[in-house]
This record gives sequence, C-alpha cells and structure tokens, in this order.
Amino acid sequence: MLRKGRFGGEMDPEASEYTSSMRDDVRLFDAIIRINAAHVKMLRECEIIEGSDADKLLDALSKLEKEGIEALDLSPELEDIHMAVEEYVSGEVGEEIGGKLHTAKSRNDQVSAAIRIALREEVLEIQEKLIELIKGLSEIAGKNTDTIMPGHTHLQVAEPTTFGHWLNSYAWPFSRTLEELNDDYVQVNSSPLGACALAGTSFPIDREMTSELLGFDGTVDNTIDAVGSRDFALQTMSSLAVLMTNLSRLAEEISLWSSTESDMIEVPDEFASTSSIMPQKKNPVVTEITRGKASRLIGDLMGGLNLMTTLPQSYNLDLQELTPLLWDAVDQSKSSLSIMAKLVKEIRPKPEKMLEHAEKGFSTATELADALVREADVPFRDAHAIVGKLVAGALKEGKELDDLKQSDLKKASKEIIGEEIKLSKKKLKKALDVGECIKSRALPGGPAPKSVKNELKKLEEKTKESEKIVEKRKKSLAKARDNLFKSWIGD
Ligand code: ARG
Repeated sequence: MLRKGRFGGEMDPEASEYTSSMRDDVRLFDAIIRINAAHVKMLRECEIIEGSDADKLLDALSKLEKEGIEALDLSPELEDIHMAVEEYVSGEVGEEIGGKLHTAKSRNDQVSAAIRIALREEVLEIQEKLIELIKGLSEIAGKNTDTIMPGHTHLQVAEPTTFGHWLNSYAWPFSRTLEELNDDYVQVNSSPLGACALAGTSFPIDREMTSELLGFDGTVDNTIDAVGSRDFALQTMSSLAVLMTNLSRLAEEISLWSSTESDMIEVPDEFASTSSIMPQKKNPVVTEITRGKASRLIGDLMGGLNLMTTLPQSYNLDLQELTPLLWDAVDQSKSSLSIMAKLVKEIRPKPEKMLEHAEKGFSTATELADALVREADVPFRDAHAIVGKLVAGALKEGKELDDLKQSDLKKASKEIIGEEIKLSKKKLKKALDVGECIKSRALPGGPAPKSVKNELKKLEEKTKESEKIVEKRKKSLAKARDNLFKSWIGD
C-alpha cells in the first residue's frame, strides 16, 4: 500500500521481515484501534473529514475491535500493525474513504501514543503487585517484631536485629519505587498525537480532544520531542531496574538464610525444586530466577539507554527496537513481583537458629562500648579499643563476650586507658544480652519492637496513599475508555 508511490516494486522479503515490527506490535492492537477511533472523531469535530466518512471509518474500526487481531493481515510486508489496521479499514470501506484515516496522523505519533496507552496500564498493574509485596512483607514483619536475628555488615554478624526489622528494610525501597512509579506514570500518560511525522500539521486539528478521548492527562508540547523521545519508557524501565535490583537482593538473602549452613528460614517446598541426581536436595529456584531476571532487566534498560544515545531527533526506526525491551522489562517485573509476593508470605523463620546466629560473632560488642561511654564516661574511641581488646582476649580463650567477667573488663581498660573501669554485673549482663540490646534501640526506624511497629504504620500509610492514586487512575482510564466506546460503538 505504501510503496505504490515512491517505489515501483516490493521490498526484498528478507529486508521487510528484518525491519518489520509486526510481532511486537500485537501488544499495541487495542491501543491502535482506540487511537484511530479518537482520531477520526476529532477529524470530524474539526470538520477535517465529513460526518458520513467518519461514520464509515468508525464502523469499520468497531468491526475490527469485535473481530479482534485475528482479522488482520499481519504479514511483514505491511511493515507494522499501524499499516495492517489501515489496510483492514480500507478493505471494509474502500480506499477512497479508508485513505482518509491517516489524515493529520503519522505512525510516528501513533506508535508513541500506543506504547504510552499500553504502558500506563502496565505501570498500574505493576504498582498493584508491588503493593501486594509490601503488604506481604509487612504482614510477616508484624508477626516477627520480637524474632531476634543477626544483622550483618560485610556478610559478617554485626549487631542483633529482628526479622521484622530486616523485612522492613526491604519494604521501604519497594515503597520508594511505588512512589517513583506514580511520577513515571505522569510522564507516560501524555499524548504525543498531533505531532504527526515531527512538525505537526496545517490541518486545524484539536490535540486536546484526542488526548482527552484517550484518557491522557495532557499533551506533549513539542512535536519533535513527542515523536522522537522515549524517556517516558526509559524512566519507567529505570524504576523497574531499581525495583528488580532490590527484589534480587531480597531473593539473594532468602537463598542465603535458607542455606544449609545458615538454616535461619525455611522456603516452602512449593517454591523449591530438587536435583536430578542428588535425591536429598531442596533448591530455592524461585529466588535464583528472580536474581537472574534482575540482570536480564538491567540489560533491557542498558539496551534502551544505549539505543537512544546517538539518535538524532526525531523519529528513527531504531526506536522500534526499544519497544520489545520495554515489554520484556515490564513482563519480567510482573512475573517476579507476583511470585515473590507469594513466596515472601510463606517463608518461615526459624527463631532458635536466628538467635543462635545472632549471639555469635560478638554481636553486642558495640552495645558494650556504648555502655562504657554511658557508665564510665570514657570517649567512644577508647571504649571501642577496650571492647576490641576484650574480643581479642575472648577469641584467644575460645569464649563468647557473655562469658566475660568484670575482671576481664578491668584488665582491658587498664591496658588501653591506664584506668580500671568498673561496670556493675547487671549492666554488663544487660549490655551483652542480644534481646536487651534490641529493646534499648528504640530510636525511630530502629530494631526495637515498638520502633518496628511504628515503621509498619508509616509504611501502611505510604502504601495507602499510592493505592489511592492507583485506584483513581484506574477509574479515570476506565471512564475514558467507556466514554470513547459509548460515543463510538454505542452501548
Ligand atoms: N513500526 C514502527 C515502530 O514500532 C512504527 C513507526 C514507523 N515509522 C516509520 N516512519 N517507519 O516504531
């Protein structure tokens, strides 16, 4: 259809297969029909095409909407789904009228609009899944505000904390991505229509009207930017990459803490596989695939960013290669969020093992140093050195810190500051007890059960705020969709 003007003959079949986006366009079918319908309605309102022609075009589009994508000729010679839809419409109403569908419209603005329409729904769906995950983490955290576990730095036991506190440490970055996606949505939901190829049109079109009919929140101002930019997609992909990075860290820790050596949590059998040769094996495969998918998604983002770096404005067909990367990022995020939200709700902590590990590695050493500062009024740096000495001595004798006596403290302090420090038995014991240590850290955001409970409340409020935004946006999209259908296809 396109070649009958400039070119005499057909494209090399391999070249048309190579350059066609047909396979990836399937996902845009619904959006493209709606864009065409909104466009025709606008052309009629602006008296650019006649009412009777508009009616015929709308009827053909409505027929296609009902018949579904199977009614289209998706062969690569047609280049893309934009042309396949036009071909279908012309087949229905004849080329004379069908040829008017593309007045004041280009595939360049249409494809950007279609990606945005499909993507905004995906963003909202991802946000819903993210909310599920945050709620799942919070549910388990709420039940484990007293479950002592070791906190690590450099993968070495560092200070005691709780399972609830640790779960919250993942819920927060997820909550931030949830908010980030609220902003990404704003960039996505802007209409590029009317930009046509790049420089708009001299037809008296109404950009606002198509924008409204399609449920966009406004228009992209600059027409070159409207067709040549994909930062709306890259921004969403960046948020998804950050999301998957955090999900991968959570997956990594679940793998670690369920390892034979650590044995602090149990992943339910439904999320594990076994070995084809070692009959005893229980492998946490879901968390491994999540880690793998995160890397894949970062690849999608890198591919997309790289693709854009050297592209001159405005439309270049390279842009077509970004779209499947975007959908891959969306799909991998959705499936990972879904399964991880399910898994997280089912992981079972093993409190005795957690406590055993938390008591290892002199995890209360910092608390003891703090107690020396408080009780003996020594500078923290001296207290640090005294406790370091105590640890060295304990290591030599194969003891833990809570085996230490007041005499050990006196000896170590004498060596470091030349004075014997005395800490009452009770205070010494308290500083060295992991449970007491946690309880005493009741600062905002800290591991004390009451701090974790407060955090959970804040998280819940934040989640609710985004939940409301998502719901409102879903409603407004559904309303725009209904209105368009009513005024086009009827009830
Ligand atoms: N298939 C193209 C894409 O997915 C649509 C726009 C094509 N524009 C063009 N001038 N060839 O990006």
